Amino acid sequence: MAVDEVVTFPMMGGDGTCSYAHNSQFQRGTVDAAKELVREAIVNKLDVGSYGYDNSYTVRIADLGCSVGPNTFISVQNIIEALEFKFQNLSLPVPDFQVFFNDHTENDFNTLFRTLPPRKYYAAGVPGSFHGRLFPKSTLHVVNSFNAMHWLSKTPKVNMLEKSLEWNQGSIKCTRFMKGVHETFQAQFRSDFESILNARAEELVPGGLMVFSLITGPSGIPFADTVQGATYNFLGSCLWDLAKMGVISEEKARTFNVPAYFPYVEELESLIQRNGHFAMERMQQLDQPMRHKTFPAQFYLSHLRAVLEGLIGKHFGEELLENIFNHINTKEAEILSIHNGKLHKEIEVFVVLKRISKN
Ligand SMILES: C[S@@+](CC[C@H](N)C(=O)[O-])C[C@H]1O[C@@H](n2cnc3c(N)ncnc32)[C@H](O)[C@@H]1O
Repeated sequence: MAVDEVVTFPMMGGDGTCSYAHNSQFQRGTVDAAKELVREAIVNKLDVGSYGYDNSYTVRIADLGCSVGPNTFISVQNIIEALEFKFQNLSLPVPDFQVFFNDHTENDFNTLFRTLPPRKYYAAGVPGSFHGRLFPKSTLHVVNSFNAMHWLSKTPKVNMLEKSLEWNQGSIKCTRFMKGVHETFQAQFRSDFESILNARAEELVPGGLMVFSLITGPSGIPFADTVQGATYNFLGSCLWDLAKMGVISEEKARTFNVPAYFPYVEELESLIQRNGHFAMERMQQLDQPMRHKTFPAQFYLSHLRAVLEGLIGKHFGEELLENIFNHINTKEAEILSIHNGKLHKEIEVFVVLKRISKN
């Protein structure tokens, strides 16, 4: 399988009305739904027994794919509170905490650090891809990652992608639904996820934890029948409209793709088992409160924009962003029918992995 260049697609930076910081309440729902589970994992599963507890002891935490607050600050705070509780409960001195905020280099780290809340930890930024090594060997105690690891390291190249938006009896069909294309994205995810696990296995101390959420596809349901699949189709049809209106080129519309993959839970489980560096301490579906609610069309549209604006701007040119999103924003009825209809919703899964002793 040939691959093209590594893609980076930061969420919308800054703290303006279109920013990720103001349009990530949905993702916040995942962080909140996992709060107690994170606490349980830290309190019951993190090994602290084998380290020294002198005054120089530091617990290091990394948040991978942090974007810009507030969600990253909230999930880090949940970990810090759980760690404080754990050490106090063990009648051990509370150590220093150091938190590394990681994202692509193009992430808006300036806004991230400008908006850091009052905190009981030392903060540092670590730019770079979590698909590779980011930290020295055996230096991290807890790795945290919410709503991020479905992003691929690159868009896999398949010939069929040249027809990625196919004109078909008056409606756009996303080629992601075609078997060969789906399998190519699946293979890319498998390789990327393996790289994530291998890198973290090097960086975590034995007994250290990796806690993360991942959006997964409902078992046995084709991507085309899910909310996410329908959203891809929706996006494709908007881009096709814009091509017909002469705002963007057909060629550009045809070659646009979103480098993300939503694995089935069983797929995720078998990748973790095959990797072999981690004990699976927990894998469970999150009761994400935001998935039970209905919202006005503009809520969904602004969340979509905050996530995809960077990617769309890179592909079509930033000067076209306003035209593109002005058109997408007129499609209120369509986006509502996707979210309020009978399509299958994605399932958010929470996972706790413990680094097993290195040999
Ligand atoms: C939807 S945001 C999630 C932000 C935050 N964790 C939350 O839950 O709200 C996904 C983030 O993952 C980042 N990301 C995607 N691929 C990445 C990679 N390979 N390395 C580092 N960050 C990545 C994106 O830039 C983006 O900021």
